[in-house]
Amino acid sequence: MADYDVVVIGGGPGGYVCAIRCGQLGLKVACVEGRGALGGTCLNVGCIPSKALLHASEAVHEAGTNFAKMGISAGPVSVDVAKMLAYKDGVVKSNTQGIEFLFKKNKVDYVKGWGEIVSPTEVKVGDQSLTTKNIVIATGSEPASLPGVEVDEERVITSTGALELTKVPEKLVVIGAGVIGLELGSVWGRLGAEVTVIEFLDVITPGQDGEVQKHFQRILKKQGMGFVLGAAVQKVKKLKTKLKVTYKLRKDDSEHVVDADVVLVATGRRPYTEGLGLEAVGVATERGMVKTDAHWRTNVAGIWAIGDVIAGPMLAHKAEDEGMAVAEEIAGKHGHVNYGVIPGVIYTGPEVASVGQTEENLKEAGRAYKVGKFPFMGNGRAKANFATEGFVKLIADAETDRILGCHVIGPGAGDLIHEICVAMEFGASAQDVALTCHAHPTYSEAMREAALACGDGAIHA
Ligand code: NAI
Repeated sequence: MADYDVVVIGGGPGGYVCAIRCGQLGLKVACVEGRGALGGTCLNVGCIPSKALLHASEAVHEAGTNFAKMGISAGPVSVDVAKMLAYKDGVVKSNTQGIEFLFKKNKVDYVKGWGEIVSPTEVKVGDQSLTTKNIVIATGSEPASLPGVEVDEERVITSTGALELTKVPEKLVVIGAGVIGLELGSVWGRLGAEVTVIEFLDVITPGQDGEVQKHFQRILKKQGMGFVLGAAVQKVKKLKTKLKVTYKLRKDDSEHVVDADVVLVATGRRPYTEGLGLEAVGVATERGMVKTDAHWRTNVAGIWAIGDVIAGPMLAHKAEDEGMAVAEEIAGKHGHVNYGVIPGVIYTGPEVASVGQTEENLKEAGRAYKVGKFPFMGNGRAKANFATEGFVKLIADAETDRILGCHVIGPGAGDLIHEICVAMEFGASAQDVALTCHAHPTYSEAMREAALACGDGAIHA
């Protein structure tokens, strides 16, 4: 008799959600986590703490820019970084403790320590041995390293160190104009750092809709963020008082050096499988990722894998969906994840959100499409809230009007996008959204207007 039906290794959004769903489905389940708190990268050193700092720094920005316009005077705004970090730590703690409560409620055993798979039916945690019918690998990812750049998490930092800086750096150089670089660059920029982002490609946020990329970069530039595009960082030299960042411009191979007090390395993440024992049990990997079939099974019977450690976007919500689906599969039901409808959000000010196809994807695929666009400038609520920057862009099939994608840059974009996610799940047309009554005055009216623009035209543009 095995101790468990399922042992989940990793307590991040993929692992803890999987464990809870297993419990709800009546499976006997344990979740193994070694970092001392549940929630993984997302809750401890990722999404949640960065959102707390984004919220706080946004408030600083709002006080410095819009308060006076509304007749509010609050004196000069000052920032106590230590208190801001304490607020952020409090947010993290309440979230991670919340998961412990959910584990108890759903009869999930929380096993503290690092798990090692010793056979398809046994996981070792320290000197404890857990026997099980199924193992779910949900060990997540870690920041990818960059040759010539030695991270110390004090002056040369990853996202983890960027959430712990004890003072605002004068000059912050960010390597990589992806999600992490722009979110955390925004935080410290709003708090007073001079931020320069060095990006290998000629565009920011690779993979986003091209029009959004350009508009987003313009907005960030206006906020004071500097960009060097088409540049590969070669090395970071640590001097006593400053850092010297050397990069090469791809167009002419010329070498340049910029000074920094702090360098944030945000050049992507890689799957984390250290000490897991994959080789010993013969679990196949590809470029560091655990290989799975369409139902999250590895090549070894009884061992499954989900989240950042497998292929696909490294997003907490993608991992959560896979966590639920794999629990259903193990319980003998049918788990499903629609990879065509996974929203992506960048939590800057304004937010950027997208789902489905971009124009670039569709052109490449040779599919005929139409675009309905609506600027937040035409939205009454946005005008009242000084939030008119950005637009909604809805893309629909030229013939059938079926929604193929949506890209939003503007206020509340990260929430607005879900209207289109639901619409896409139902196979809706742009007209379906256009015919749906949207409350006035809300930002969501911009979504409807973009849908109207796919047909006979938006009203307020
Ligand atoms: P990313 O893959 O989004 O961006 C990395 C950027 O670094 C790319 O634009 C790449 O071209 C550039 N780069 C690589 N090597 C370089 C070099 N030598 N010099 C200059 N630029 C270079 O990776 P990021 O931002 O580190 O995020 C990691 C993962 O975490 C992503 O999968 C992301 O989706 C996820 N994440 C998601 C968040 C969200 O959904 N809001 C928040 C934070 C992370």
